[in-house]
Amino acid sequence: MNDFTNILLRWFATHARQLPWRETRNAYAVWLSEVILQQTRIQQGMAYWQRFVQRWPRVELLAAATEDEVLREWQGLGYYSRARNLHAAARQIVAMGEFPHDYDTIRSLKGVGDYTAAAIASIAFDEPYAVVDGNVYRVLARHFGIDTAINTTEGKKVFTALAQSLLPPKQASAFNQAMMDFGAIQCTPQSPRCLVCPLQESCDALRTGRIDALPVKLRKTEVKTRRLSYIYIRCNGYTAIRRRPAGDIWQGLWEPYNQTEQAAPADPIPSPADTGLVLLRQNVKHVLTHRILLADFYLWPTDRRPALPEEYIWVRESDLDRYAKPRLVELLLESLPG
Ligand code: ADE
Repeated sequence: MNDFTNILLRWFATHARQLPWRETRNAYAVWLSEVILQQTRIQQGMAYWQRFVQRWPRVELLAAATEDEVLREWQGLGYYSRARNLHAAARQIVAMGEFPHDYDTIRSLKGVGDYTAAAIASIAFDEPYAVVDGNVYRVLARHFGIDTAINTTEGKKVFTALAQSLLPPKQASAFNQAMMDFGAIQCTPQSPRCLVCPLQESCDALRTGRIDALPVKLRKTEVKTRRLSYIYIRCNGYTAIRRRPAGDIWQGLWEPYNQTEQAAPADPIPSPADTGLVLLRQNVKHVLTHRILLADFYLWPTDRRPALPEEYIWVRESDLDRYAKPRLVELLLESLPG
């Protein structure tokens, strides 16, 4: 075994984090953990993972749930396409008869990319596939002094090949999880703990003073700001909501009357009867991956239901918690008076 892998695995033997999904090799439980952790911190992800396996202990049960139930359980985690894909993949797995054992079939499941397929195949089935995620890029870029940008096709190729060449075929699960933990605990993005690092003697970035410069990432897409203006219509204990359409953020989630999504600040008037509109909060900032949202929240108490576009439905305010909503909408609801 090469020195890097040897030292890494020895480090892992004493430093592995105790995580609930590590107590099982059940592929369904492992898959759930990997999908949840894709864009979520461990602490937050853990609570969701526990709720999911408690509510749907087997993939058949998740497949039998409705998409709405899954979205509701997912609420607060963001990136809701993960929840929709999770649900669709559960149905794919049930149709297959059992959880697939091989990398290629796992990779064919909805929402499962190279990383997730390698993670499941290695952790649940000990298949020799190296995972490549942010931690792996960072650890390898620093240790081997590689300045190829990680968010390029070339970078992905270089780092995947390197990780694969370091992976001990019979210890794929331990190696991959060791890389994850090493990146999360030891070789952290900011202030890595180089003074107590077991790999300090062979670390190229440490020797050449490039710890902060590696890994290299090209800045690609400009993050645009988008304005939103919500009007919470309160009419005799009812309010109007709609399900967000396909092809945009928050597909399938519910929101109150959406006054506008135009670039300019919105004119917050739902109808000519603009009296009584109450500003709840202004310029509430909400950061998504490719967007910064700036939202204004209004309350409009009225005795008469205004005419609204037909996608809106009227629901009892006390029933609102039955609907999956984006975090931003939760913030609006929290700012409502009694
Ligand atoms: N992040 C994503 N998957 C993980 C795992 N299996 N262990 C620790 N951190 C992770």
